[in-house]
Amino acid sequence: MAEREHWNSRLGLIFAMAGNAVGLGNFLRFPVQAAQNGGGAFMIPYFTAFILLAIPLMWVEWSIGRRGGQYGHGSLPGMFDTLTKNKVAKYFGAIGILISTLVMIYYVYIISWTLGFSFFSLIGTFNDFHTLDSMKTFLYSYQGIGEGYFDSQWPAYIFLLITLAVNFYILSKGISGGIEKFATIAVPLLIGFGIVLVVWVFFLGTPNPELPDFSAFVGINYIWEPNFELLGNSKIWLAAAGQVFFTLSVGMGTLQAYASYLDKDDDIALSGLATAGINEFSEVVLGSMIAIPIATAFFGLAMTQTIAEGGAFDLGIIAMASVFTEIPFGNVLSFIWFFLLFIAGVTSSVAMAQPLISFLQEQFRFDLKKATVAVGILIFIGVHFVFLYLDHGFLEEMDYWAGTFGLVIISLFEVILFAWIFGMDKGWEEINRGSDIKIPKIFYYIIKYVTPTYLIFILIFWTYQDAIPTLLMENAKDADIAYRWGARAFMTAIFMSLCGMIWLAWKRNNGKPYTQEEIEGGK
Ligand code: PHE
Repeated sequence: MAEREHWNSRLGLIFAMAGNAVGLGNFLRFPVQAAQNGGGAFMIPYFTAFILLAIPLMWVEWSIGRRGGQYGHGSLPGMFDTLTKNKVAKYFGAIGILISTLVMIYYVYIISWTLGFSFFSLIGTFNDFHTLDSMKTFLYSYQGIGEGYFDSQWPAYIFLLITLAVNFYILSKGISGGIEKFATIAVPLLIGFGIVLVVWVFFLGTPNPELPDFSAFVGINYIWEPNFELLGNSKIWLAAAGQVFFTLSVGMGTLQAYASYLDKDDDIALSGLATAGINEFSEVVLGSMIAIPIATAFFGLAMTQTIAEGGAFDLGIIAMASVFTEIPFGNVLSFIWFFLLFIAGVTSSVAMAQPLISFLQEQFRFDLKKATVAVGILIFIGVHFVFLYLDHGFLEEMDYWAGTFGLVIISLFEVILFAWIFGMDKGWEEINRGSDIKIPKIFYYIIKYVTPTYLIFILIFWTYQDAIPTLLMENAKDADIAYRWGARAFMTAIFMSLCGMIWLAWKRNNGKPYTQEEIEGGK
């Protein structure tokens, strides 16, 4: 009898989960968040959010996922539905599928730039663009938002198509044959690349002895030296929580989807911690030791801060690419950097497609191939908006509602569902079943009281500080308003379709998933 898919090995599972978590968030988003939010001051709210939000939520998500898998569910609607009798819960699950799909739509486009830049590094396309301005022109012309080296968007389009093909090829091979196999190669490779760059940063030190402040160590120091005065600023606490969510892939349904391919008694406590550990190593050790120190060594700290204010792409793409044009073996180092971003990105983007793929398989009896093609077509269509309207806030709008605000909504909902509706006693047993370590009992109380309270505070502050102004488009350019409404209409349309599909599936058979055998037999 055909069974539900399963991870091949414990190590493979950990690589897949780590691949899911380690992504552009670690290498591009984290250094910029740290720089924009006070350097060392950021680390305190960051680690607080890590311990009080991310670790508890991660165990909760692995538990919800592993439990959902026992019922044959790989996506949040079904998983939530089994935790409560309430009929509305499954529609919250639709938000989960929605945000992972939306994030994938813009994330794949960003990864495709890093693939393009890996290729350009190797063949030396931007060797002559030494200054920030010239590199910016190069990137903008590639993206089709300015004039410069490229006079069409075709190169960008081709790299986008290759990126999509890589993603959906991996996905079409399934959990153990695709995602796990790829991650088992990609994760060690990207960590190795990261270590190479960090070692190089230490050798780089202070490249120009006449400018002692232009030093990688000044940059490292900046990231690590805490400034307690800034701790009173709520903006930093919100940014830290947002970063922790994004980097650990919490609040999206992707960890749950991966965990649904575990066995009932497989450990989750230790495996969850191990993958969080790999992610944090890649983030606070590798992520903080590359872009900021390198930029500081070449541009000085003040300039680096200005670059970082411009965002993740200014630092991680423009500044890094232009530095690499100045140094010996720059092409190789540049390739290592951009290709690291590419593989880190792909191991994350495949995770984003998985919830919708499972949903189509289990609720609509699509076989793997058909489900992969269907999701591929949806992402392919969606990414065109981002590709064509990059300069008009389409990406920002999606990143804000799906990649920032949505995560907190899902997290809050699921922790209340798990700890209060399903019940923390049963929940605690669920987390600890089969566990290889003993989780300190204090986490029982953290999950029940601290995490939800913390999330409610974040949600209130966020709604007030950002969500309402964003909703009213207070800071949007006039020319972008129509596009931003377009983005909202697009997101709403997908959400409504998902809700309709859930309604249909539950009407058919109360959401009971098709078994693997039925899926494979039922062309
Ligand atoms: N955690 C990934 C990163 O750091 C992004 C991601 C978010 C992946 C959500 C999957 C789900 O880039």
